[in-house]
Amino acid sequence: MAEYVTVARTTDLKPGQATWVGIAGRQMALFNVEGTFYALDNACTHLGGPLGEGRLQEAVVTCPWHGSRFDVRTGQVVGLPARKPVRAYPVQVEGHEIRVALEG
Ligand code: FES
Repeated sequence: MAEYVTVARTTDLKPGQATWVGIAGRQMALFNVEGTFYALDNACTHLGGPLGEGRLQEAVVTCPWHGSRFDVRTGQVVGLPARKPVRAYPVQVEGHEIRVALEG
């Protein structure tokens, strides 16, 4: 069974915002899409750009380095130059805590 760890509070990012956190030796990008939270690896699959510093429009984040676009709900590429999806993590909200499953 997946173990969920708290990575942020729901008040840390408003709808339409992205950020990133360091957790368990990795960087994870967090997104608030109209009150629903999503988590991806913070490294773009093109050349490692920080997706948590990208621009979020609806459920799509644009990498700040060369403009690849990813669906934050799934990690799938929706705009080049990246070709491989970025890892997406399951997210739960408990009270004001955003919790992410690191494995499983
Ligand atoms: S590193 Fe993200 S588009 Fe190049």
